[in-house]
Amino acid sequence: MASELCIAVVGATGAAGQTTLRILEERKFPVRELRAFASERSVGKTVTFRGEPITIRRIEPTAFKGVEIAFCSAGSAQSKEYAPMIVKAGATVIDKSNAFRMDPDVPLVIPEINAHAARRHRGILACPNCTTIVTENTFGDILSDEAAILAGSMGMLPSASLGGAVGLYEPVHGTAPDIAGKGIANPIAAILSAAMLLRYALGLEKDAERVERAVLRVLEEGHRTADIAQAGTNAVGTREMADLIVRALEAQY
Ligand SMILES: NC(=O)c1ccc[n+]([C@@H]2O[C@H](COP(=O)([O-])OP(=O)(O)OC[C@H]3O[C@@H](n4cnc5c(N)ncnc54)[C@H](OP(=O)(O)O)[C@@H]3O)[C@@H](O)[C@H]2O)c1
Repeated sequence: MASELCIAVVGATGAAGQTTLRILEERKFPVRELRAFASERSVGKTVTFRGEPITIRRIEPTAFKGVEIAFCSAGSAQSKEYAPMIVKAGATVIDKSNAFRMDPDVPLVIPEINAHAARRHRGILACPNCTTIVTENTFGDILSDEAAILAGSMGMLPSASLGGAVGLYEPVHGTAPDIAGKGIANPIAAILSAAMLLRYALGLEKDAERVERAVLRVLEEGHRTADIAQAGTNAVGTREMADLIVRALEAQY
């Protein structure tokens, strides 16, 4: 297949290299040819890829001819030594060590955060340490807390995770167990998430708009849950707010 690639894994016998091989398999990455590299002491030994033994090669310029992407995880000093040579041979290097993370000429690409940075690479891409990658969720929490100020409260923010086999519709604030059962949660984010479900999962645009109009109507009438209540508004609990929105919705059918 023309779109399949020649891939090199440098440090293929190590923990990170082995994980790279397993991920390439699991994700069915379009690999036409896999070349494995490690230290001198491993040359001639084999690693397994897609059930086949792959012989470890010696790291030298000719061995990278034709390689399109090289994943490097043989250590920082080794990346500094080998990456320029691998780039010169024509491959793009994705480096897993800390060799280039602070290099202004090398984009540091963080999954789900700045994939666009990869576009400005000049042959080498750096990625953060795996522990940094998983803190991305924490950054997401910080960003959503800050963005909530625009809508007045986290309780006003619906969300949809689209693009996978199924969509997931839920309020941005998640389950909020600390306020469960107290009647003070704002149900609007959950109700607007249902509107997104109607729109994006079921293609029911008119019904989605009716739900959104119902929410707007109730807010215009001055009803507020505790998180968005102000002087002069009518403070209501979770159930009362939901009932008001349901009535405003029913009135449109
Ligand atoms: N970004 C991330 O998420 C992430 C995660 C884990 C690790 N890493 C990085 O990946 C690198 C390797 O970590 P690891 O845990 O996989 O280490 P490891 O298990 O010790 O594996 C080291 C690998 O490098 C090879 N190697 C060692 N010296 C070499 C040399 N002089 N020339 C060529 N190959 C050589 C080893 O080959 P032999 O078997 O022949 O010795 C082995 O394949 C480190 O820089 C680490 O910080 C990054």
